[in-house]
Amino acid sequence: MRPFGFAIAGTGAIARVHRDAIANIPGAKLVAVWSRTPERAAAFAAESGCEAEPTLEALAGRDDVDAVIVTTASGYHLEPALAAAKAGKHILVEKPLEVTTERCDAMIEAAREHNVKLGCIFQSRFAPVNRRVHQAATAGEFGRLVLGDAYVKWYRSQEYYDQGAWRGTWQLDGGGALMNQAIHQVDLLQWIMGPVAWVSAQTDTLAREGIEVEDTAVAVLRFASGALGVIEATTSIYPGYPKRLEIHGSAGGAVVVDDVLTEWTAAGASEEENRKVLEEFGGGERSGTFADPMALSFQRHKLQIEEFMQAVTEGTPLTVDGEEGRKSVALIEAIYRSARTGEPVTDI
Ligand SMILES: NC(=O)c1ccc[n+]([C@@H]2O[C@H](COP(=O)([O-])OP(=O)(O)OC[C@H]3O[C@@H](n4cnc5c(N)ncnc54)[C@H](O)[C@@H]3O)[C@@H](O)[C@H]2O)c1
Repeated sequence: MRPFGFAIAGTGAIARVHRDAIANIPGAKLVAVWSRTPERAAAFAAESGCEAEPTLEALAGRDDVDAVIVTTASGYHLEPALAAAKAGKHILVEKPLEVTTERCDAMIEAAREHNVKLGCIFQSRFAPVNRRVHQAATAGEFGRLVLGDAYVKWYRSQEYYDQGAWRGTWQLDGGGALMNQAIHQVDLLQWIMGPVAWVSAQTDTLAREGIEVEDTAVAVLRFASGALGVIEATTSIYPGYPKRLEIHGSAGGAVVVDDVLTEWTAAGASEEENRKVLEEFGGGERSGTFADPMALSFQRHKLQIEEFMQAVTEGTPLTVDGEEGRKSVALIEAIYRSARTGEPVTDI
């Protein structure tokens, strides 16, 4: 049987993470790449042992391609996804799914119309600690949920924004600290706490120059469950700190710092049982991306790509399909709307 063939559209930094993940999955093979800059595609193909294709249609149309992974600038995710759908190929898109809910909907619709799988990379959902917190919150192990907070206090240098023309633009980045960096925590927060019903927010560009989008955002939330919460996101504080997720209920809760569990109490659990959970999820790999975007391991991408392959070959469900991927974009859109108008937003 031939390997499961992947193609990658976009040959920047995260494309390398996908390439390395695929190289470590038995039965998976990267067969071709595309970039709008042909020399970059050729160089990436040469160093990766695959072929370069001149157009998205040629990439998606190959007989040895089963799925296209989309790693282009965020506001150019839709076009490669549409080319894949039209060729009947499954689609795995980097976060954010797209930069507006309108473009997300066009992608979801195309995948439905052409009967192909659509997945969206949110690798933090594959960190065992976040799965455990999600399970506890949804099973009532923390009692009634009271507070859900996400803090992403990161540092991205001026050079980081200067080096990619698409970064920091509304059209191609879709937003700033929220839409690009904090979106992983925004996704986890709404996955664990449930949907947000009301949001009021302020955003600003406080320290970076020459970007259209916010480098700092704060939002106050009321979840549909009645719980309250906050999101704080910045890419402008030096030196940058590990991201935090705090989930608190009437009978317990959890604090996760950079995907490592630092506090844990579950309803009805003994001190010994709580300590065991802390020991199990209190170590492990930290990402380190709070100060350096390149400090990203491929291990969690590998887990999500493996789940995607299984969904294609065996029909199993995806943790983050198109609809799930759309949710964080919808919440961030609502935050931007509130910041722009100065009014709370409820149609999220
Ligand atoms: N899952 C994660 O943790 C993670 C981490 C980094 C990036 N990402 C996502 O991956 C995507 C790419 O990010 P990156 O860090 O690799 O960026 P990058 O700048 O290194 O690469 C971007 C790629 O998109 C291409 N591109 C830029 N503008 C384009 C346009 N107008 N039309 C077509 N192609 C265009 C570039 O040529 C390049 O191949 C983004 O959507 C980003 O949000 C995800």
